[in-house]
Amino acid sequence: MMTLKNIEKSWPRGSETVKGLAGVDLEVTRGEFVTIMGPSGSGKSTLLHIVGLIDIPTAGSYELEGRNVARLRDRELARIRCRHFGFIFQSFHLIPELTALENVTLPMGYANMPKARRPLRAKELLDRVGLGHRMNHYPSTLSGGEQQRVAIARALANDPGFLLADEPTGNLPTETGRAIVSLLGELNKEGLTIVMVTHDAALGALGTRSVRIRDGLIEGARTPMSTGIE
Ligand SMILES: Nc1ncnc2c1ncn2[C@@H]1O[C@H](COP(=O)(O)OP(=O)(O)OP(=O)(O)O)[C@@H](O)[C@H]1O
Ligand SMILES: [Mg+2]
Repeated sequence: MMTLKNIEKSWPRGSETVKGLAGVDLEVTRGEFVTIMGPSGSGKSTLLHIVGLIDIPTAGSYELEGRNVARLRDRELARIRCRHFGFIFQSFHLIPELTALENVTLPMGYANMPKARRPLRAKELLDRVGLGHRMNHYPSTLSGGEQQRVAIARALANDPGFLLADEPTGNLPTETGRAIVSLLGELNKEGLTIVMVTHDAALGALGTRSVRIRDGLIEGARTPMSTGIE
């Protein structure tokens, strides 16, 4: 469970400040698949970075599994991030010199998983995302959808409770993107809590709850399908 209250994020620019988030409240319960939608520049990525402890808020409180994480030191943040969160991005961020299997194995080192177990677990994960037959391929020889599947397997390497996805379908053709989100839906049903940023309303409606953000503020949450019109 995560509870963010009155989260603000701003950056100095010359004598002014640029506001990314202007007082956001967000609560995510285990088992949810929350989608975040909103126009470009509205603060979606900023919010996801704060949720995933990649960045810290300028003001506000953040409780993760009952612990206040808004003001921790870098080392502690990195430790909690590694334990609780997996990330996927629009441009996959795979390491080109490593095979699919090696990409998935890599983060297991950060969590001190026993060496002998790593390839086995990576293979299981690649099987789970439908890429068992491409284990030894390098990213450049995989399609965009396949690369994103490898990235999902890598995000799950250390068995995080939360998967955070920033426009995971942004670089994919519509049908491929839909297949990726439907895979995320399956993983959610298996117990993974997901927060996904998307521009695409059709994909946003595939989560269990949708949140809209504009000018650094949450506009109002609605349950997908509960209203045909916004
Ligand atoms: N590191 C930064 N320094 C200064 N301003 C920033 C920084 N990161 C984000 N911003 C500003 O904060 C606002 C929100 O940015 P953010 O990247 O969260 O938007 P977004 O909703 O993810 O947009 P997009 O849909 O284009 O990805 C923007 O005005 C942006 O310019
Ligand atoms: Mg963004």
